[in-house]
Amino acid sequence: MRKTLIAGNWKMNNNVKDSLELVSSLINAQLPDEVDVLICPPFTALYPINEILTYSEIKLGAQNMHFEVSGAYTGEVSPLMLKDVGVSYVIIGHSERRQYFNESDELVNEKIKSALIHDIKPILCVGESLIQRESNIEKETVKNQLINALRGIKSEDAKEIVIAYEPIWAIGTGKTATSEQANEMAAFIRNTVEEIYDINVSENLLVLYGGSVKGDNAAEIMSQSDIDGALVGGASLKAVDFLKIIMYNNHVQ
Ligand code: PGA
Repeated sequence: MRKTLIAGNWKMNNNVKDSLELVSSLINAQLPDEVDVLICPPFTALYPINEILTYSEIKLGAQNMHFEVSGAYTGEVSPLMLKDVGVSYVIIGHSERRQYFNESDELVNEKIKSALIHDIKPILCVGESLIQRESNIEKETVKNQLINALRGIKSEDAKEIVIAYEPIWAIGTGKTATSEQANEMAAFIRNTVEEIYDINVSENLLVLYGGSVKGDNAAEIMSQSDIDGALVGGASLKAVDFLKIIMYNNHVQ
């Protein structure tokens, strides 16, 4: 059984005070048992947030990390540092990192391997650009991203990986992929993972959708057979908006 995961990617938003207020509102809400809730705040807020999450089921994630454990890498944050502040998930290869910070598939692969060694669950982001979709190479693009990102990773480790399908043209644009488009790609991702590993890994794999997920489209997206959750940007920055997504199930009833 795959348990739904709703993850909030705060990106470069929220100072410590705002972060603590937002998390407190989430802690005080009645969260549904059938959903795992994950928040990925900026690095500067991880420590204080971890302090107030002690008795909460909410999980803490980072938005990026370096693959080395320590050393002369000015400005970088290591997996051990993340573990030290209670992080159990890390977003790897978000399209903004690939686009603005030149992260290659090879670097993404290094980071995933390092996260796995340190017992941090990587959320591997894949997705095509608008040009790639319009040229009908979206599947080929995503397949290459998967093959490169998973190179050299054994199946027992691959079981720890979450994959987020985020079409670049749907991120922060208000344009969501239709639920059919999202589900088709999620199924394709699952099939590709089965080809690389086996059905054991692919059947248990969590595939999230990300790209303009909101309270009013969450139920429809989440009802798709191959979509197991959401990676939410903009709508995770306000407790009321994020809670609507987390409670998506109550909205359809
Ligand atoms: P969005 O971002 O929900 O604001 O489109 C999603 C993401 O980048 O993870």
